[in-house]
Amino acid sequence: MTAPDLPLLPGETRPLHGPGEQRALGAALAHALPAGGVLFLEGELGAGKTTLTQGLVAALGFSGAVTSPTYALMHPYPTPAGRVLHVDAYRVRDVRELYDMDLEDLIAGSRLSVIEWGADLYADYPDAPILRLEHVAGEPEVRQVTRLR
Ligand SMILES: Nc1ncnc2c1ncn2[C@@H]1O[C@H](COP(=O)(O)OP(=O)(O)OP(=O)(O)O)[C@@H](O)[C@H]1O
Ligand SMILES: [Mg+2]
Repeated sequence: MTAPDLPLLPGETRPLHGPGEQRALGAALAHALPAGGVLFLEGELGAGKTTLTQGLVAALGFSGAVTSPTYALMHPYPTPAGRVLHVDAYRVRDVRELYDMDLEDLIAGSRLSVIEWGADLYADYPDAPILRLEHVAGEPEVRQVTRLR
């Protein structure tokens, strides 16, 4: 099987001018990533993690609201293409907490899983791309994305 054709190469950084471009990146990832696939996101408060996820979920046909999963830990979005699992591991102290919630099976049964702050899972999902989202100094209307892996 060939690697999915993602809109960014490993190591590449690109500016995202406004929420529309942020959502468009999410949409492109939704179509590029395989069923059961994982996308890791890192990025400080307001860097655009939820906005990218909104674009991803909308591209798969879900029309409801997408919010930050911070207080829920994980949130499933039922799309016509299958479930998108949105996980925020920021407050997870030990990955066993996630695996105790049957994360592996949930991921395997989802169209796609978006995992924020999942560094402790990177080794377990070696094929999953990692994107870092950042503010750009002096440009509040811009973010930038770097594909770390
Ligand atoms: N590429 C972009 N350019 C400019 N503004 C953006 C961009 N992407 C998102 N935003 C805006 O930045 C704000 C924060 O975005 P978002 O909620 O997606 O961030 P987040 O990383 O999920 O933050 P949090 O950590 O608080 O959950 C929103 O107002 C959103 O519209
Ligand atoms: Mg968010």
